[in-house]
Amino acid sequence: MNVTQFTAPAQPAFEADESLTGLALSSQFVAGGLLLSVALPPGVVRTRLAGRYFLAHCGDPSPWGRAHDWTFPLRRPLFVAVWRPATDEDGERWLLTTPAIADPGVGWLAARPPATPINLIGPLGNGFTLPPRARQLAVVSTPGRVAALLPLLHAMLDSGGRVAILLQDEGVIDPALRDLLPFAAEVQQAAPGAGWQMQLRAVVGWADVVAAALPGAALSDLLEAVRVVRLRVERDFAQALVDARLACGYGACHACLTQLGNGRWTRACVHGPVFDLAELGK
Ligand code: FES
Repeated sequence: MNVTQFTAPAQPAFEADESLTGLALSSQFVAGGLLLSVALPPGVVRTRLAGRYFLAHCGDPSPWGRAHDWTFPLRRPLFVAVWRPATDEDGERWLLTTPAIADPGVGWLAARPPATPINLIGPLGNGFTLPPRARQLAVVSTPGRVAALLPLLHAMLDSGGRVAILLQDEGVIDPALRDLLPFAAEVQQAAPGAGWQMQLRAVVGWADVVAAALPGAALSDLLEAVRVVRLRVERDFAQALVDARLACGYGACHACLTQLGNGRWTRACVHGPVFDLAELGK
């Protein structure tokens, strides 16, 4: 395939088609998930960032490339992990993350040299919310997914609340991940099985709000734990970031169809990807 050289400006910028040019600064894999540091122009929306996502074009970021470079036909989702204000002319620093998956598009993003322009759309979707009354947040996740919940952890700690993190994992936690998690948050882990279910019930009983980013089977465990501990799955107690194939971000392609607890299907890109657990449970 013939692809032109990159022609996008080497500065973070808003584009005429409402996309963004970001500059990839560095990347690393932590607990299997990609963390991509990107400079974006000041003024990108920053409300409810936990669970919201950008869609990255994995190819030539120029207008010509976005129309003709189909090396990776679908954009790849990158969730917001950390935002930092601009400290120089290179723009705001965003740390974006995607779960541990074997995906050539993610590999392409990870291999970008420093200062490579990347075309992004976003932030998109509905993120996690913290009820005003909430003081004790339980985060239940896996090591490769939990970075997408970092904005919520910090929001709770910044408001004077407490955070407990339960990770479904059998091994030693990646030290780089431990460095990412707030020191003030209590971190526990449990392997799938009886120990995991017991610890789930414990954190659900402790929390007044729960945020989850889990694969399907573990999400079912969370639903069961909430039913056992609280007798029913009430709205505004727990929210979950679902695993969905986020491709277009605008409700057009149906790649992200997600089944709700009432049997109906919805598009996670526009109605999620964060859902109230009460919507997901039967
Ligand atoms: S990603 Fe295309 S409809 Fe949701």
